[in-house]
Amino acid sequence: LEEGERVEVKIGLSGFGNVGRNFIGLLLEKKKYLKDKYKLDLKVVTVLVSDGGINNPQGIPLEKFAAIKTAFERKNMLGFDDRLTGEEAIKASNADVWVEATPTNIKTGQPGLTYFHTAFDRGMHVVTLSKGPLVCAFDQVMEHARKAGVQIKYSGATAAALPTIDVALNSLAGTNILSIQGILNGTSNFILTAMEKASLSFAEALAEAKAQGIAEPDPSLDVEGWDTASKMIIIANSIYDTDFKIDQVKLTGITKITPADLQEAKNRGGTIKLLGIAEPIGDTFRLEVAPTFLRADHPLASVNGTTKGIYFCTDTMGPLTVIGGYSNPKGAAAAALKDIISIFAPAAKTFSTSF
Ligand SMILES: NC(=O)c1ccc[n+]([C@@H]2O[C@H](COP(=O)([O-])OP(=O)(O)OC[C@H]3O[C@@H](n4cnc5c(N)ncnc54)[C@H](OP(=O)(O)O)[C@@H]3O)[C@@H](O)[C@H]2O)c1
Repeated sequence: LEEGERVEVKIGLSGFGNVGRNFIGLLLEKKKYLKDKYKLDLKVVTVLVSDGGINNPQGIPLEKFAAIKTAFERKNMLGFDDRLTGEEAIKASNADVWVEATPTNIKTGQPGLTYFHTAFDRGMHVVTLSKGPLVCAFDQVMEHARKAGVQIKYSGATAAALPTIDVALNSLAGTNILSIQGILNGTSNFILTAMEKASLSFAEALAEAKAQGIAEPDPSLDVEGWDTASKMIIIANSIYDTDFKIDQVKLTGITKITPADLQEAKNRGGTIKLLGIAEPIGDTFRLEVAPTFLRADHPLASVNGTTKGIYFCTDTMGPLTVIGGYSNPKGAAAAALKDIISIFAPAAKTFSTSF
């Protein structure tokens, strides 16, 4: 890039809920920083919700979004068109990259899966927060992206603010990853921590998680282990070039864990964590999500509350742990922004101007 040159990136967004709103907020908050540091000028040209959307090839004034609370306001203040379907909107959009932030459906992958394919057909890169399309059709999605000559990035679907895929694929490149263990669900970890530290029952700890806005009204995907399993198979498929489906994960949630179990673990010099585990064993794989005893000196044993962590064992770099990152919609939005930066302002270009 020449001095002062900017790259304009046009973004389409499906989903204007917790994450979508935070994503737009972040684009506003970081506007100057993104221009100064990465020379990126990010514009949002399309936004889709469950009952319509808006397309503006010149860019939608983002400031206006901050005030919008209801569907009525979306229509009347921003001009959302309730006749516009998702596919139509993507086909008509001039976006360079599509950000997918609709609800995750791990049975069908929809609506994200259709949005992915439509975006690939239009030559758009995809950055996803929703896990459904990758859980249901990992190989198909990767193949389509490859054929379309575009990138798909999914930090937001693999523990978001906690770097998992980036570490495995970039920082650990050239190693054999012998096993992966992850605390990948903030709600379950919060519940187990509350049960352990405050001697609460599962039901009491869940009620506390709901009161603090950590657990969803229906927390079953989290506490039964489906969310951890979803993230783990996306991570495993990325690292091991496999196409595992979620029904291949041996799955046990935390609903049957009692304070007595946690006390017993403590007496044995450790604790219990809901782990996602992926480990090649000979010609087969161990793929499991289960409450697991960890000795106190295991790096993940002290990961508490909504904090997440991932532990890799490698052949040539040894064991390596990553812990932290916000488990909230802003952290998720920031993970999507990171993916956009890595597509449009790869490190080599950015750093070449600084050294
Ligand atoms: N929340 C987090 O911290 C977090 C972290 C990492 C990943 N994620 C993932 O990010 C995604 C979004 O989460 P969220 O918390 O933002 O969900 P949310 O608050 O429920 O928002 C979902 C948004 O998707 C829209 N939507 C629903 N069906 C649609 C359709 N068919 N076409 C277009 N838009 C549709 C909804 O429209 P309406 O506004 O009309 O209802 C809403 O704006 C999920 O897949 C989640 O798993 C979330």
